[in-house]
Amino acid sequence: MLRIGRVQLATNLLLAPIAGYCDLAFRLVCREQGGVGLACTDLLSPQGLLRGTATSLDLARTTAEDSPVGMQLYGSDPEIMAQGARWAAEHGATVVDINMGCPVDKVTKKDGGSRLLCIPDTAQGIVAACVRVLEPMGIPLTCKMRLGWFNDRPVAEVLAPRLVAMGVAAVTVHGRTTEQKFAGQASLEGIARVVEAVKNAHRGPGPGVPVIGNGDVREPADALRMVGATGCDGVMIGRGALSTPWLFRDAWALLRGLPVPPPPSETQKLDIVRRYLTLMLRFRDERYALDQARKRITWFGKRLGHEPDHRGRPVGCRPLKDAVRHAASTAEVFGLLDRYQAGELRGGEPAQGVGCDSDHDGAQPQPAGTRPEPAHAGP
Ligand SMILES: Cc1cc2nc3c(=O)[nH]c(=O)nc-3n(C[C@H](O)[C@H](O)[C@H](O)COP(=O)(O)O)c2cc1C
Repeated sequence: MLRIGRVQLATNLLLAPIAGYCDLAFRLVCREQGGVGLACTDLLSPQGLLRGTATSLDLARTTAEDSPVGMQLYGSDPEIMAQGARWAAEHGATVVDINMGCPVDKVTKKDGGSRLLCIPDTAQGIVAACVRVLEPMGIPLTCKMRLGWFNDRPVAEVLAPRLVAMGVAAVTVHGRTTEQKFAGQASLEGIARVVEAVKNAHRGPGPGVPVIGNGDVREPADALRMVGATGCDGVMIGRGALSTPWLFRDAWALLRGLPVPPPPSETQKLDIVRRYLTLMLRFRDERYALDQARKRITWFGKRLGHEPDHRGRPVGCRPLKDAVRHAASTAEVFGLLDRYQAGELRGGEPAQGVGCDSDHDGAQPQPAGTRPEPAHAGP
C-alpha cells in the first residue's frame, strides 16, 4: 500500500491536478465512486493564497470528506513557495506538492512548472525551503514532474533522487517531456528509469520513497500496465477520470487481482453528473456550475449512450450534449438530464473510446489567459 511520509493511503491511485477541472466538487465525486487514495487540487499560486484572492481560495477549498488531499503550488521563489506551503498545511493539506511539470508559457516564463527541470538549483532551493517549513508540521512534501524539457535530455531520473535525498516524500512522473506537451504517448520506459534511479539511490532500511507513474491511464488495464512496466508504487490518473470518475474503483479492483465491477448503469452515470452539479452549486455558484456543466458534458458523454435501443443498436447522446452546451441555467441542465433518462435527447453514434484528442474535449493545456487563475495573480 502506498505511503507518503507519515501518510498511509487507502489505495495507490491518485487523482491528478487538472487546472480548471479537479475542483472540490469533482474530487468528491471521484472519491464517492471509490478507489481514490489521494486527490490533488489544481495548481495554486502561493501569492494568491497569501493575499487571499477569491480565485485562489476557491481553488484551495477543501472539506473533511476531501481527504487525504494534496495542495499543489507553482512558482519559482523558494521563500514564497515555503510561505505558500505553510499556508496550505494550515488550511487542510494532507501533503503539499510542487508543480515541476506545467508546460504552459505563462508559468514557465516565470521559471515555474516544468522550467524548474532546466534550473535544478532553483528546484532544489524550493524543496529545501518547503521541507524546512513542512517537516516540523508533519506534512510531507511531494513533487510532480515531467521526464524533462527536451525530448533528448531526460532530467527527472537525475533530479528525482536528489530531491528525495533532500526530504521529498514522493515523486510523480508524467511520462512526457515539455517539448512533447500532450502529443504522442506517455513513455513507460522513461517512468521506469526514474523509478529505478530513485530505488538505486535509496540507502538504509525500510521501503524507499515511492514514485508515482502518470500518463494516459484511461482503462483499468492501463493502470496495471503502468505498474507492471515501470515498477512504480502508485498511479496518478488525470483525464481518464473526467469521463470515468469510477475508474479508480475499477483499477483498484484490477490491481488487487479482483474482477472489475460492472460499469454503472445509465441512470447511475446520470446521477453522477447530477451529483457533480449539486456539489458545484453547494461549493461555488450558479454561474460556475453552469460553465462547468457546459464545458464537461462531452467528457461525461463519452461514457453515456452506449446502451442499446429497443432494436439492439447502441445509441449516442449527441442531442443531450448539444442541449447542455446551450443551456441557460443549471435547472435547465437538470431538466435535460431527466429528459435523457426518460428516453429523449438520444441520437448519433456513441463516443468511440475515451481519449482526450477528439473535438470539444476541453481539457487541453490552456493557453495563457484562459486559465481560471492567471499565473502569479494578485489583487
Ligand atoms: C487541462 C490540463 C490541466 C492540467 N493542469 C495541471 C496542474 O494544474 N498541475 C499539474 O501538475 N498537472 C496538470 N496537468 C497534467 C496532468 O496532471 C497529468 O499529468 C497529465 O494530464 C497526464 O495524465 P493523464 O493522461 O492521466 O491525464 C494538466 C493537464 C491538462 C490536460
